[in-house]
Amino acid sequence: MAGCYTDGGMPDLARRHVEKALLKSFIQQWLTRCALLSACFVCSSIPILSAAEPSTSLTSAEFFARRILPIAQAQRASSCTECHFSGVELKQYVLADEASTFAALRAAGLIDVVQPDKSKLLQFIARKPEREDPALARVRTEELAAFQGWIAAAASNPALLASSPTAQSIGTELPLEVIRHARRDHVLNAFIENVWVEMERCVNCHSPERNERFRKEHGEQVSWITPRDPAATLKFLADQGLIDVDAPEKSLLLSKPLGIVEHAGHVKFAVGSRTDRQFRSFLNDYAAAVQGKYRKASELPKPGKEIAIATGQHLRVTDLPLEFGGRLMRVLLFRRDGESWSKHPIATGDSGINPKNGQWQNSFCELVDRANLTPERLTTPRLLPGERYLAKIYIDRENRAADNPAFEFMEADLYAEIETAGDWQSGYLKPKILSAKEKASVEP
Ligand code: HEC
Ligand code: HEC
Repeated sequence: MAGCYTDGGMPDLARRHVEKALLKSFIQQWLTRCALLSACFVCSSIPILSAAEPSTSLTSAEFFARRILPIAQAQRASSCTECHFSGVELKQYVLADEASTFAALRAAGLIDVVQPDKSKLLQFIARKPEREDPALARVRTEELAAFQGWIAAAASNPALLASSPTAQSIGTELPLEVIRHARRDHVLNAFIENVWVEMERCVNCHSPERNERFRKEHGEQVSWITPRDPAATLKFLADQGLIDVDAPEKSLLLSKPLGIVEHAGHVKFAVGSRTDRQFRSFLNDYAAAVQGKYRKASELPKPGKEIAIATGQHLRVTDLPLEFGGRLMRVLLFRRDGESWSKHPIATGDSGINPKNGQWQNSFCELVDRANLTPERLTTPRLLPGERYLAKIYIDRENRAADNPAFEFMEADLYAEIETAGDWQSGYLKPKILSAKEKASVEP
């Protein structure tokens, strides 16, 4: 289970990161609990102010001074952080004094003076995930009682009501797109689309269901995957310092499988490969969202049109010229579509060519159009049927990818086209095998 470390099981690096990550992890608690994406949000009704909060005995000004200002001045994270990584904070909704706060909230449509309990600000505060973090649940209850009490008192304070709404701005200044992007469910979604979809390549050694041998040898931290739970996996990676928000591209989640940092699991993907780019783009995006670096919608990364989902099926190409050893090679698979081959590739794999034997092997990912995506599809790997395919082989002959993570294959990199058919099982040890010598044998 995530987080179940025994003492001494935590690597030094992780320990250092844990301190830095304490606040971050505190506000990340929800990730373990919420199952998936939007399913975790419930719109709760606003509870009635408890009898222990005698709002009637205080004037609205006293209420504001005693209950609202301290929230604005507090160092601790507000309940908003349970769902918003950055960008929105309750203290952004409190100005220096009661009159200006009331006027600005009213002008922003966040206070309903006729039905104070229906105020939009209270709805923001009352929003909670399906399974709340207990500490943040207490914070939320306090915040809600304070704002509910003050808004009720303020809305029946004739002096405040008579004052005219001001144009002084209140709340977050970020555009809606940025708020949305830095929401935890969106960040989790980005993790699923860029990283989790490739977990089939890591599960044999990093899932506690399959890695007993590695656990004995390397300790419990090798089980950083929580089976069938991307939220818990992301939380674990962040808490253990395997994601480095200060230097995202130095995260062990990337540098280990790239082999830049020694990895007992060896090189899992190459610099410049699609997987490398996906991991990098997730890590950079994650760091920017957590640290509140996005200010404008134009700064947000654009979602790709296709998602590549690992199938667990391997393709091996033999008899490649030894002079291409170490070069990045991509295979695109096209499906037989009536009398011709499909226009778009349906699956892809990238990796380096083995310089010793001129072989290439990679676990294949199915390319799925974003328009056809469902949450189930994203989290359930499936096999490509064993039918007729055309494999187009691209090789980075000039080694342009070597130190360029933004490397792109071009049509000029096409090296061979090979047709294949028949059964295709899953697993590293049962690859489909093609020989580069057959490169001419293709039907139009
Ligand atoms: C349970 C998760 C959750 C919590 C906690 C939460 N929000 Fe949100 N917030 C959301 C979701 C989901 C949306 C998008 C709502 C939509 O699109 O209808 C959102 C949207 C917003 C927006 C965008 C504008 C709008 O009207 O939708 C603002 C501003 C906002 N929240 C502020 C806050 C503040 C301030 C807090 C803390 C007091 C807070 N949120 C707490 C989930 C949450
Ligand atoms: C053949 C087994 C194997 C595969 C497959 C494998 N790894 Fe590993 N990995 C290991 C072992 C063993 C360790 C622990 C020793 C070490 O750090 O090198 C490790 C360590 C790690 C660590 C550091 C964990 C820690 O807490 O220190 C990360 C991160 C990592 N691997 C990422 C990956 C990713 C991402 C993939 C899939 C793309 C992957 N690994 C695939 C065997 C594997």
